Amino acid sequence: MRLTAPERAMLEGAQGRARQKAMDLLVRYGEALGAERLVDTNNVCGTVGASTPFLRDFGLKHGFDAVFSEFSLDSAEVVPIPKVEVYSSHLQQGLDPEHAQAQGIPPEVVKVYRQGEAYTARLGVQPLNTCAPYTVGNVPTRGEHCAWMESSAVVYINSVLGAKTNAEGRESAGAAMLTGKIPYWGYHIDENRLGTHLIELDIEVQSTADWGLLGYYIGEVVQDRVPVVAGVRSIPNLPRLKHFGAAVASSGGVEMYHLVGITPEAPTREAAFGRNPITETFRYGRAERRQAYEQVNATAQDSQIDFVMLGCPHYTIEQIWEACRLLEGKRVHENTSLWIFTPRATKQLADQNGYTKIISDAGAYLMSDTCSALGRVMPKGTRVAAVDSAKQAHYLPAIMGVQCWFGSTADCIEAAVTGRWHGSLAE
Ligand code: F3S
Repeated sequence: MRLTAPERAMLEGAQGRARQKAMDLLVRYGEALGAERLVDTNNVCGTVGASTPFLRDFGLKHGFDAVFSEFSLDSAEVVPIPKVEVYSSHLQQGLDPEHAQAQGIPPEVVKVYRQGEAYTARLGVQPLNTCAPYTVGNVPTRGEHCAWMESSAVVYINSVLGAKTNAEGRESAGAAMLTGKIPYWGYHIDENRLGTHLIELDIEVQSTADWGLLGYYIGEVVQDRVPVVAGVRSIPNLPRLKHFGAAVASSGGVEMYHLVGITPEAPTREAAFGRNPITETFRYGRAERRQAYEQVNATAQDSQIDFVMLGCPHYTIEQIWEACRLLEGKRVHENTSLWIFTPRATKQLADQNGYTKIISDAGAYLMSDTCSALGRVMPKGTRVAAVDSAKQAHYLPAIMGVQCWFGSTADCIEAAVTGRWHGSLAE
């Protein structure tokens, strides 16, 4: 890999041991990928704390610098970790410290979490604590080179914002925080961002649930390629694209897509494909929508609902407002729990605007920082869950061994209130 003089100096230790280790990791990583060089980044989203039980134990025993050294820099030698070099944000965590009791998290674990928060602050990493940093102020510009983890966020900033990132891991993101560098390959390079597969829509895709189903279908058929969707009749808003991207990155490994006439690199079909030939064309109509719905609901059988989870990816304030309109003045069924997840900053807005009160008056919770699949947090004894996210429906049964219904937000709120699932696919 070709390095600039300052990069080579960093690799030789001119900026201390931690940055030397970080540069060494990036060079090894870049060479394994076939990258010819590094690129500067000033926007990194990753995780630096100890969000899993294993990392917490490790952190307690050896300290947080040891966690960073071992798990972000691949260094058995514990090196002192300096403040981050570039603007860096923390993604979702393993628990919500404000709702630890409801989540079944013991106080000693919350104590370690708080130590991790203090460590994050010491490094100068912003505690956004969400899988949707682009909803709380971290909005990269078109063409900006980023180094982000979290598949749903990666696909959003690449496709909707036109920023440039690959789906990084904890190690490369940690090393990028300390150096401001990331290997120049994959979606940093314009030609790799061009479309490969065409999806022609035969039906109108409107609701957030519909966009989730479309994403789930496309991920299945294109896997990790770059789909170009043509025939979108209703312009999707942020939550719809958030759910679409999360789904397409769950059933498949899509990190970049184009919506013709909507997303910034696809003013036309020709621009979206550039010089790429169309590898394959798929049509999306009623039958494909039904097929996606049945796949997403494959684990669901019992109509009695124990748990309704909303907020995957974390809800925007608009979605909280919508949920409150459905929930206000009602009570969650005595045998059912309703947990809604949102970024911490959005929760402050919900607190201020009375939405948190509407939710708690209904017997539900507005939580932050984590989610059920990632934090493995659910009400005790949950057998059957209901969600409005194809991504969460994809992961929750696999991770937590529960049945899971997928439907609209209204279906989910109704299930929370009645304790039963009545949702169906509107034809
Ligand atoms: Fe976010 Fe959890 Fe979904 S981290 S994208 S809410 S699986």
